[in-house]
Amino acid sequence: MSLINEIDKNKIPKHVAIIMDGNGRWAKAKGKARLKGHQAGANSVKSSIEVCSELGIKFLTVYAFSTENWNRPKSEILGLMDLLVGTIDKELKEIKNNNIKISVIGDISKLDTFVQKKLKLAVEETKNNDALNFVVALNYSGRWDIINACKNIAQDCKANILDPEKIDENTFKSYLSTNDIPDPELLIRTSGEERISNFLLYQLAYSELYFTPRFWPDFSKEEFYKAIINYQNRERRFGKISEQLT
Ligand code: FPP
Repeated sequence: MSLINEIDKNKIPKHVAIIMDGNGRWAKAKGKARLKGHQAGANSVKSSIEVCSELGIKFLTVYAFSTENWNRPKSEILGLMDLLVGTIDKELKEIKNNNIKISVIGDISKLDTFVQKKLKLAVEETKNNDALNFVVALNYSGRWDIINACKNIAQDCKANILDPEKIDENTFKSYLSTNDIPDPELLIRTSGEERISNFLLYQLAYSELYFTPRFWPDFSKEEFYKAIINYQNRERRFGKISEQLT
């Protein structure tokens, strides 16, 4: 029987963020090339999008390429970019049919122009969709996001658009790449690693963290349901005590 039946439909998180880890180890364990692992990982992205659509999760953010990933062999970087472009080509029609909006966070100006063009097209063609917002983090890092926000805040202060005395959490959030996205209630990381690895550093302040030993290509729909059930069994106190929560 599917675990979906055990999910409380009244306690669905609005935003789930995922560090998709373990593609390389999945491939190695099977004697395959690393790129095969990434290709299998793209299938898990698809099934995760389906889970979010089924459950009514409004935002799904995936860490597809970090600023540190530039240190990988050139052939792997090219393979990942080709996979991204190929996946958009293959799936864009269905994404549009399913009312899914694609967003990108990160400094994509450093990506090859053919990748940038494809991403911009996907964002443009889905911008009015309002079921799930699928957010792809590319050439992203949490520290980059924070530093970038600080630079823009400093510029606006210098230009007298912003009063430094009036900067609060809401102001700061509005300068982050996730300005129009609520903070994730749940972060999932696969492959047994238990780190944030420079992902959404500011935004994860109160998120529940869920770690699973499964490699990303093995993160099936049932694994996603398991993570949601685990999240639903936690008590989120935000600094309060249990008795204060009704
Ligand atoms: C981490 O596994 C995975 C990545 C750095 C890339 C994730 C990319 C995809 C799943 C491709 C498709 C993405 C989209 C949005 C269509 P790893 O290579 O670090 O694994 P390892 O730690 O076992 O080597």
